[in-house]
Amino acid sequence: MISVTLNGELRELDLDPGTPLLWVLRDHLGLTGTKYGCGKAECGACTVHLDGAPVNACVTLLSAVAGKTVTTIEGLSPDGRHPLQLAWIVEEVPQCGYCQSGQLMAAAALLNEHPRPTDADIDAAMSGVLCRCGTYTRIRRAIQRAAN
Ligand code: FES
Repeated sequence: MISVTLNGELRELDLDPGTPLLWVLRDHLGLTGTKYGCGKAECGACTVHLDGAPVNACVTLLSAVAGKTVTTIEGLSPDGRHPLQLAWIVEEVPQCGYCQSGQLMAAAALLNEHPRPTDADIDAAMSGVLCRCGTYTRIRRAIQRAAN
């Protein structure tokens, strides 16, 4: 049994400790906001927070999150109105939308660390999350909006 605090709730998970966190979330817990892109830590679509830091859930094993705190896009805000989510709407960031939960989780980790990031801070923090639609300019604007 592996204990994890997931989106603020203590969960006891009777699963293979070698299961990637992405599949624990999506297949076993029904938290499908975290997306599968590449499965090898290259695209960032699966970004969640582990003890507040962004990680790729596709290459993070369940055993590595034992006793820790995991936050997914579903837990970013209780009502979907995190300042970043509101800024995302105002700036009309998403295009196809597939990578956006990963983008939001990476952005939230950045703002927790740097409440007033420079554009260079943003580009560095967001470089691990790819957007095939190229929404990067709007992402940067939305992060700056949420930070102000
Ligand atoms: Fe995890 Fe691409 S699915 S980084």
